[in-house]
Amino acid sequence: MAKIIAGIGTSHTPAIGAAVDNGKTGEPYWVPLFKGYEPAKKWMADAAPDVAIVVYNDHVNAFDFKIIPTFGLGCAAEFPIADEGWGPRPVPPVIGHPELAAHMVQSLVLDEFDMTIVNEMQLDHGLTVPLTLLYGTPQAWPVRVIPLSVNVVQYPAPTGHRCHMLGKAIKKAVESWDEDLKVVIFGTGGMSHQIQGPRAGLINKKFDTAFLDELSSNPEHLAGIPPLEYLREAGAEAIELVMWLIMRGALGDKVEEVYRFYHVPASSTAVGNIILEAR
Ligand SMILES: [Fe+2]
Repeated sequence: MAKIIAGIGTSHTPAIGAAVDNGKTGEPYWVPLFKGYEPAKKWMADAAPDVAIVVYNDHVNAFDFKIIPTFGLGCAAEFPIADEGWGPRPVPPVIGHPELAAHMVQSLVLDEFDMTIVNEMQLDHGLTVPLTLLYGTPQAWPVRVIPLSVNVVQYPAPTGHRCHMLGKAIKKAVESWDEDLKVVIFGTGGMSHQIQGPRAGLINKKFDTAFLDELSSNPEHLAGIPPLEYLREAGAEAIELVMWLIMRGALGDKVEEVYRFYHVPASSTAVGNIILEAR
């Protein structure tokens, strides 16, 4: 049986990918950030999952404004890397698990989540930066990846509650798959940040810390945070944090926090990383 062993919350700030790709990780600005991810990388190397479900958002690369799925599940065998304006990041292509992804779509749709089936898509920094942070720069990614794209780009994003419920349905879907697989799930994006307008640069450490605390102990409360509260308290782009609730929902009731790292700033974002093992 496939089993979700852990969830990883991590920011996906594009500047982090650019720092790695351009050999800047040793610069004083970046050293503390990459040092903070070392324990998470070690955890990942030890855990060695077979499959990673990566909940992320596309930043108008795979999807333009013609069609924006609320929840799009990547069912392809392989996903190319998107060109975000500077050429594709120099990272390996992402290998999927089309059989498990198709099973997940079936289970989720029967559970009344109206997933969009995505058979072809390019992946941008929203997915590749988390892989880089947790796996470094290998020749090939040592894990198969099922991308789950969530619309947090154009209003309205799904609610935290809906995301949390989807996570629970994902747990059921994965754990009804017969192959013995160790699965991890990523929730990406956030934490507090606003990249434009008069409040650009906004960071709210208090909000972020409470979010990290409650992710283990009180996810039901986080799931009740209305969208406007994210925007008001933690900046317009903090709405990405609803994706962490999909991750949390997929872990079941009991989790143990085994690692946490918080750092301000990377570019204009507050960076958070948490690892929760399912118990
Ligand atoms: Fe983002």
